Amino acid sequence: MVAHRIALIPGDGIGPEVTPAAVEVLEVVGRRHGITFDHEEFDWSCARYRELGAMMPEDGLDRLRHHDAVLLGAVGHPAVPDHISLWGLLIPIRRSFRQYVNLRPVKVFEGLESPVRRAVAGEVDLVVVRENVEGEYSEIGGRFNRGFPEEMVVQEAVFTRAGIGRVTDFAFALARQRRGELTSATKSNGIVHTLPFWDEVVAERAESYPDVSWRAEHIDALCAKVVLDPARFDVIVGSNLFGDILSDLTAAVAGGIGIAPSANINPEREFPSMFEPVHGSAPDIAGRGIANPLGAIWSAAMLLDHLGHAEAAAEVEQAIAAVLANTAVRTPDLGGTATTREFTSAVLEFLGS
Ligand code: NAD
Ligand code: IPM
Ligand code: MN
Repeated sequence: MVAHRIALIPGDGIGPEVTPAAVEVLEVVGRRHGITFDHEEFDWSCARYRELGAMMPEDGLDRLRHHDAVLLGAVGHPAVPDHISLWGLLIPIRRSFRQYVNLRPVKVFEGLESPVRRAVAGEVDLVVVRENVEGEYSEIGGRFNRGFPEEMVVQEAVFTRAGIGRVTDFAFALARQRRGELTSATKSNGIVHTLPFWDEVVAERAESYPDVSWRAEHIDALCAKVVLDPARFDVIVGSNLFGDILSDLTAAVAGGIGIAPSANINPEREFPSMFEPVHGSAPDIAGRGIANPLGAIWSAAMLLDHLGHAEAAAEVEQAIAAVLANTAVRTPDLGGTATTREFTSAVLEFLGS
């Protein structure tokens, strides 16, 4: 029997609706594989901020540190400015725990119709590897001359040799285990000064992976190519902002952003990694029980894989695929009428529960 300590942060909006689906799936698949989960739930959220003035307690990160993994729903509420909710919870976790790789896989599942003509099941299977702790999401800068005609904001993009090198290494190593193809998202035509440096470091790292074929693509053209021919891509590595944009784009290509999972990985395992769907708190549909739990459930599969339970993770993915291929159970974002509960129950049924 293996026991894992999981920190649960359901968060805001649909976060608390989709996270229980992931937890239930973990419990069921865990039982079949002799894995037990000791879940500790934290109510850190915009609701907490509105009541107590902080998204999480001062010792919040210390309280997460000794867990094996963090499972997060989503953060964000229309009544709380996003910079408060995000810099007060999500970003500090990613950074303090050196989760510098954000893995965001995308597949077109059998039974799901992609809005993209050339995206068919079995062919589209890619992973966005997003740099997750530096780049455009920096804390250097500010708002100046407030209220004057000269008012301005400045935010420095921070790219380090070490930061680019380590995420690129991860992406090359992943490509090597997959189809051996890496695309680096860039914008190096002399306008953006940071990205020629990104290209330089990627090219250097590439020398250690002669078996992986790689190419750099400008982000604008890359977005078009991903839409026109998504099957062409295997692993795409990109900066924090490019990776963020590409992962919603690729998720939409595969059917919608409700299906995409993400793993914020600390590859050295000094700290817990964090698993969360790619989507946000979706205030427009929150409270109606119709959020798609697929991204959260697939994130739970990534958590299992990260903790060394590859077989259990594969079973969860197979159960998701089986629901889509063999039933008409779909939440409204995928054109169906199922509730979050009904989709979750269908997955649990294929898991044999
Ligand atoms: P969003 O992902 O919350 O929603 C975008 C659209 O997709 C909405 O129409 C929503 O209804 C739909 N959608 C998202 N997830 C869905 C699901 N599981 N099932 C069905 N439909 C789904 O993005 P947004 O509207 O830009 O942001 C809303 C809030 O979420 C903001 O406060 C934002 O900062 C926050 N956010 C948080 C995270 C996170 O916690 N990791 C990620 C993205 C956005
Ligand atoms: C994501 C989100 C976050 C990000 C926001 C909410 C800060 O969009 O996880 O994709 O950009 O990292
Ligand atoms: Mn995003």
